[in-house]
Amino acid sequence: MSHPPTELTLDSILCGDSGVILQRLPAESVHTIVTSPPYFGQRDYQHDSQIGREESPEAYIQNLVAVFSEARRVLRPDGTLWLNLGDKYDRSRLLGLPWRVALALADDGWLLRSDIVWHKPNAMPSAVKNRPTTDHEYMFLFSREPEYYYDADAIREPHTTFSESSKMKGGRRHFGQRGGTPEQGKNGGQANLHDGRWDQAFHPLGRNKRTVWSVPLGKFRDAHFAVFPPDLIRPCINAGTPEGGVVLDPFFGAGTVGVVALELRRRYVGIELNPDYVALAQRRLGDFVSR
Ligand SMILES: C[S@@+](CC[C@H](N)C(=O)[O-])C[C@H]1O[C@@H](n2cnc3c(N)ncnc32)[C@H](O)[C@@H]1O
Repeated sequence: MSHPPTELTLDSILCGDSGVILQRLPAESVHTIVTSPPYFGQRDYQHDSQIGREESPEAYIQNLVAVFSEARRVLRPDGTLWLNLGDKYDRSRLLGLPWRVALALADDGWLLRSDIVWHKPNAMPSAVKNRPTTDHEYMFLFSREPEYYYDADAIREPHTTFSESSKMKGGRRHFGQRGGTPEQGKNGGQANLHDGRWDQAFHPLGRNKRTVWSVPLGKFRDAHFAVFPPDLIRPCINAGTPEGGVVLDPFFGAGTVGVVALELRRRYVGIELNPDYVALAQRRLGDFVSR
């Protein structure tokens, strides 16, 4: 049996089944994995080894667990996995697949660290009348180990209390007053204040990023499937890797992870089954490099 190589070819796309290709990649060589596998029963990517066309949700979950188990070996011990998944209705029943996959990955050894809701403000309207229209998906954050690389400062968001338009208890005027900030208000108490220190609770770079991310769907129309909006994955790459760090996407599609990784001065490795999409991603990445 051949051994995995000791070095990774950076800024490259590998064409093939990620379950197989991952076995050939060196252990502990990437900082973070940012990816969106095909959703169950959604699209036909025209290939025998494709994920998402299994006969049952259980078989789909099992296949994903196998791919991400191999991906975990390729991830550095301080690395993270950012996994985007959407749900699916089958004969009136919501399958709950994102959570079923997340819990199966947790059972397989991944540490589930966060369930981020990707709110899509421009999601397609639907004709349903007996339930709300779905306008969200999930982005799960997993780590290999309890301690891992996560640059919270790189992805802070504006403090609501201090913004001009703040409706929260009067904004800056109330700073330091009892009950004058969200942290002192209904969620009051020292536990919310990171050691009770104001300079940390009101960090100069903004508040710690929250778990609902409102990001419109992108306009990239060249592919026959949903591509990542760059704004959705920028925080994952910024928090998950230092500059120069390596981002892996084992379901590379049109290569948005590569485009954003280069834009943020990171390196990428993509795996994609369909040669047409590999060509498409290469064109996009070529465009990016020559710009
Ligand atoms: C939802 S798309 C990813 C889109 C990507 N995030 C982007 O922004 O362009 C999923 C991709 O996974 C690919 N795929 C499906 N099964 C695969 C497998 N077993 N190995 C590698 N890629 C696979 C499909 O061809 C498709 O391009």
